Amino acid sequence: MSQPLYFILTGDWHITNDSNNRNNKNVKHRLKLIIDEMPNDVPFIIGAAGDLTNNGMPLEYTNLTDIVEEVGVNGNIFSVLGNHDITKLGNLIICSGFDEAAFQHGRKFCDEVISETVFNLGGEVHNHDLEHFEDSKLKKLMRVVLMHEHKVVFLLLDSNVTEDDDASFARGEIGTKQMKLIEQYLQARQLVGYTKVLMLHHHPIFNDFFQLLKDSDEFLKLWWGVPNTLVAFAHKHHRNMWSNGNDSFVASAHDLKSKQTIKVQVFCLKDGKVFFDKYLELPPAP
Ligand SMILES: [Fe+2]
Repeated sequence: MSQPLYFILTGDWHITNDSNNRNNKNVKHRLKLIIDEMPNDVPFIIGAAGDLTNNGMPLEYTNLTDIVEEVGVNGNIFSVLGNHDITKLGNLIICSGFDEAAFQHGRKFCDEVISETVFNLGGEVHNHDLEHFEDSKLKKLMRVVLMHEHKVVFLLLDSNVTEDDDASFARGEIGTKQMKLIEQYLQARQLVGYTKVLMLHHHPIFNDFFQLLKDSDEFLKLWWGVPNTLVAFAHKHHRNMWSNGNDSFVASAHDLKSKQTIKVQVFCLKDGKVFFDKYLELPPAP
């Protein structure tokens, strides 16, 4: 029997430069509510599935770090980067392209919270900085966390594309090198009996060409049908959930910054399996 671990799916925080902005206030308020709702003695991870900042600006990352530290959840977060986190003005219409400074700030934030969370809850981190293109100085960041006590492995994927065209930023791509690694982790003999949680920002499914991973077909082939998996993503600010019987789930996150009351999914990872536990209903900040 392994100790249960709870996974709460969020995404699209869109933290801004202005700490009085509604996005910042709503995210901070909801993170506090999540802490209040989760029992003290229960280990949990808040999955932040990308677009943590609005425009990847340095002050936005400072505000983001301040919020998670003030609320005290920096030891309970696993995050990946979204298109807004690595571009100046990540919006599809006015996207002004990849920004290396934003990318480096994003990488630092993700690695720090992953390391705090592993320090808090235990685990073993494997960092993979993969070249996306041969001539690119940019890396795709795949972070893998093995939590042996809970029999869970988290594959924190990088679905960002760094080409300078707006449609690619919106669609995202896993890339061949990362795909190969995902396959290796899914098939690893020493991870048989572990729950596999794959988190990325962009959409692996959905009939929307403009917001669908460029290589969604290949990605789907890899994990579809692998039991005891949870694939978690964000990007479209639309909550949804699909279950393949009782042994695997695909879930998209509502946006944590929303002006409406939202319901976030809580999953229980236990004994190498994944169960949907409940929704947490989270109103906006008063
Ligand atoms: Fe996005």
